[in-house]
Amino acid sequence: MRTSLLLFLAGAAVLYVVAATPTAAVGGEWQPIGNVSDPHVQGLGKCAVYEQNKVTNCGLMFAKVVSGKVQTSSGTRYLLDVDALRLNGSHKIYQAEVVDQSSGGSACKLVSFGPNC
Ligand SMILES: *[C@@H]1O[C@H](CO)[C@@H](O)[C@H](O)[C@H]1NC(C)=O
Ligand SMILES: *[C@@H]1O[C@H](CO)[C@@H](O)[C@H](O)[C@H]1NC(C)=O
Repeated sequence: MRTSLLLFLAGAAVLYVVAATPTAAVGGEWQPIGNVSDPHVQGLGKCAVYEQNKVTNCGLMFAKVVSGKVQTSSGTRYLLDVDALRLNGSHKIYQAEVVDQSSGGSACKLVSFGPNC
């Protein structure tokens, strides 16, 4: 009885690992962006600020993307550090996550943007 319980637990652990691994693979790994000066990357940062301004009245002005990461496993997602100018003239770095939609209608879909302005 004790042995079969242990075997059951061991089997469950193996199943858990097998089940968990593909999920991680589908999620993909964030890779650093080689060259953030790429106009396409800068355009996505600008798009993120534009989309954020639609849903808040922060009135941010895009300055530049300073760094970022990209993930290409299920569509192309970017996690960008965006330098933006606030209404009072000070710069702040915001983190924006966008889905690249340049092959579709709009340039990007904003997933998250923070911190609050
Ligand atoms: C990065 O991209 C920009 C714009 O396309 C280009 O002018 C610059 O030479 C690139 N830098 C490197 C290191 O590849
Ligand atoms: C602009 O506003 C932010 C948030 O209220 C504040 O932290 C920052 O110090 C201000 N900067 C200037 C130049 O007034």
